[in-house]
Amino acid sequence: APSLTYPAVKVANLSQVKTGQPITFNYPDASSPAILVKLGRPAIGGVGRERDIVAFSALCTHMGCPVQYEGGRFLCRCHYSMFDPAKAGQTYQGLASSWLPQIPLRVDGKGDIYAVAVAGLIWGRVKNV
Ligand code: FES
Repeated sequence: APSLTYPAVKVANLSQVKTGQPITFNYPDASSPAILVKLGRPAIGGVGRERDIVAFSALCTHMGCPVQYEGGRFLCRCHYSMFDPAKAGQTYQGLASSWLPQIPLRVDGKGDIYAVAVAGLIWGRVKNV
């Protein structure tokens, strides 16, 4: 089977990440906006001491509008799709039928957080990298 090779990209340090204050970055390349957020509750794939830091593509899987982190979930204002960041980006309201692609994270011994892959297909692409 073909395998995708993802870069490891530093996003932030654990010391910089505050609950409910999203950090934007691009991954796996400059044209793919993404959001890292500390939820304040454990999440599937969450890193950090409380397993609550996760990252996702910021492009809605419906038609590619930007999603915002608001009220504990990702919201797309174009047609009001909502995605649960604690449940691997599961869509639970609106027109999007695919989950929001999660970006798996790794933390090194210095507390640096790296994006290391994409789970799912980023909107508008036939492949992620
Ligand atoms: Fe996000 Fe339609 S583009 S709900």
